[in-house]
Parts: sequence; C-alpha cells; structure tokens
Amino acid sequence: MELLPKSKLPHVETTVFTVMSALADKHQALNLSQGFPDFDPPDELLDRVSFYLNNSYNQYPPMSGVLPLRISISDKLKSVYGIETDPEREITVTAGATEALFCAITSLVRPNDEVVMFDPCYDSYDPVVSLNGGIPKHLEMRSPDFRIDWDEVSDSISDKTRLIILNTPHNPTGTVLSSGDIEALKQIVAGKDIYIISDEVYEHIIFDGVKHESVCRCPELLERSFVVSSFGKTFHATGWKIGYCRAPAELTREFRKIHQFVNFTVSTPFQMALADYLKVNKEFCDQLGSFYQAKRDFFCSLLSKSKFHVRPSQGTYFQLLDYSNISGELDVTVSKDWTRNLGIASIPISVFYKKPPASPQALLRFCFAKDDATLEKAGEILCGI
Ligand SMILES: Cc1ncc(COP(=O)(O)O)c(C=O)c1O
Repeated sequence: MELLPKSKLPHVETTVFTVMSALADKHQALNLSQGFPDFDPPDELLDRVSFYLNNSYNQYPPMSGVLPLRISISDKLKSVYGIETDPEREITVTAGATEALFCAITSLVRPNDEVVMFDPCYDSYDPVVSLNGGIPKHLEMRSPDFRIDWDEVSDSISDKTRLIILNTPHNPTGTVLSSGDIEALKQIVAGKDIYIISDEVYEHIIFDGVKHESVCRCPELLERSFVVSSFGKTFHATGWKIGYCRAPAELTREFRKIHQFVNFTVSTPFQMALADYLKVNKEFCDQLGSFYQAKRDFFCSLLSKSKFHVRPSQGTYFQLLDYSNISGELDVTVSKDWTRNLGIASIPISVFYKKPPASPQALLRFCFAKDDATLEKAGEILCGI
C-alpha cells in the first residue's frame, strides 16, 4: 500500500513570500519582498503585553476573543466608519487576517459555488475556495491602473455565484476602491444571494487624503459582508498574527463554528494589550496613513534618477516598480536574479495571477515598511541598475 495522499491542492506550492524571504536570507539580500516592517510596535503597546504576561493573563481567553478587545474594535469601527457593531455577536478575534479569511470562506462556500476574485489576487483566497469545493472565478484588473471592470463582474455573475472577495487598499498593486466602485458592487449584488468578503487589512494605510471606502460605509453591503482586518499591519506586529472579522450576527455564528475548530482562540496577553492600546491611543490609526505616506514619498524620491517607471502607491506599504526600461526578462527571473546578484529582494507580480495577464507586464513589488536607512540602501542598489 502506498501511503501517499492525493493532494487536495495539487497546484499549490510554498508561497512566494516564503520562497523570496528564504532566498533573501540565503544571499543576505535587502528584503523588500515579504510585507513586514523592520521596526517595532509602539513601546506602550509592548509594555502592555509584558504587563499581561507577568500578571497571570496566560490561560485560554474566550473563543471569540477577550471582550475588552472586541469592545475596543467596536468603538474603533464606530469612530472611523460611524457604524454600530455588537462586540458580543458581530466581532471575532482571529489568528491574523489569514485565519479570518479561511473561516469566512469556509463558512460560506459549498461544492460548486462560484467565488469571484480579482487578479492580481492575494494568494490565500483561491486555495481556500478550492479546498471547500468551490470554483474560483478570477477576473483580471489590468495594468497600469488596476481597476475592477464592473461590467465584466456583472457578466460573470450566475445563479451559482455565492461570494465576491474584495481587497482595498490592494496588495500587491497599492490601488484603492472608490465610492463609485462600491456603488457598482451594491447595484450588482442587490436582490441576489451573494455575500462579500472585504479584506481591509491595510484600512489605515491610505495616502494623499483619500478616504478608505470600506464596505462598512455602505449598509446594503455591510449586511452581507465579512470585513477582515489585521493588527499585524496596523501596529507593526505581523509576527503576533492577530486580526479580526466583523460580520452580522447570523454570519458570525457560522464563522465561529469554523473558528472554534481551527484556532479556537488567540493568545490572551496580546489581545489584552491591544484592547488597552486601542482604547487609549485612538489617534494611532489616524496617523498611520501619513506615517507610511512619508515612507512612500521618501522611497519614490530615492528612485527619481533610476530607470524605473513609478506610479506612486495609493495605499498599503507596497510600491510597484516597472522595470521595462531595464530588462525584457520575466518578473520571476528578474526578482530572483536581483536577489542573488544585486542583493535586493522583491516580489514578482505574475504570481498573483491565475492566468498570465492579457498584456505583458514588467512589474515588481517592493515593501517600503522599512527604516529610512534600509530604504536608502535599497535606493542606491535600484538606481545602480
Ligand atoms: C491582502 C492581505 N490579506 C491578508 C493578509 C494576511 O494578514 P495576517 O498576517 O494578519 O494574517 C495579508 C498579509 O500580507 C495581506 O496582504
């Protein structure tokens, strides 16, 4: 007997983020590939973690998250988006946004349900839909502006469509949805049994005075939406893997049926610390956009004399660079080559597509959530190419 299981995800390999970070380590390259800051969370937040670690907050918290954190999240949603959220029945704290996405998709998608998603697309959506027997429907957002073509969305909807997955601000392109996009989506799903997952992990990282068009601002969408966010992105703490999902009570009930058997819950001292910090430092989220905008502007200014075409990112901590003036090679080849030979790691955009994009692209994604000294070094390398 051969004990080799037939893979449930035969086309899935180790994620590109892991591959590129490992390659960056191996060649001691500057790692602007995976999306994490090279600076720490705020001191006051770290102090609160150590307080709870040292004061006996080390046992299981409630399955849906400690109530003080759910209350802090509900208060934040009220102050940022003006919505009421019941912390008892509508908020679940999860092991990062990744777990929230898994539970939301799994609670909704049944065999042969169709799920619309937009390429280039964050890499966790498609495999989770497939694991649940669903059919991912990838629609392409075309470069250079990467907008959703709502006519195409409308044409792709069938009576099997169960779910549409959005991501704004968008990884990897750094684009953001407009109020017109939200309106178009609202019209398309009106009167249909279609749910929304809105991946808003970069909700506070948005630039140039533009408002984040969260589905939270649209009651007609909110009543059918799982809204997912990540404290990792907001508080420079990606290694803590804590996020949350906000959904109407009936959807949350189904969501928690999955969550309780995936993670059950998330580390107590970190949750308690986040609850305190969010309560006392409300302005932290408000200043995050200008904090990262300064980094984006610094990074882009360093590249002004380079051969890259740069369209400044509108949100997230990623900047796409178009290298078509430098090389005609495929992006995967270029990013690996530059990691090995020039000491700078990035992420090729083609890996975020199910099918190769309609028009050829020469785009790499660089993470600018880095200290100025790291960005300066990156600028030097990139200007030398
Ligand atoms: C669009 C998007 N969604 C979800 C996640 C996962 O977030 P977390 O680390 O909180 O699981 C990421 C992380 O890079 C992301 O970019």
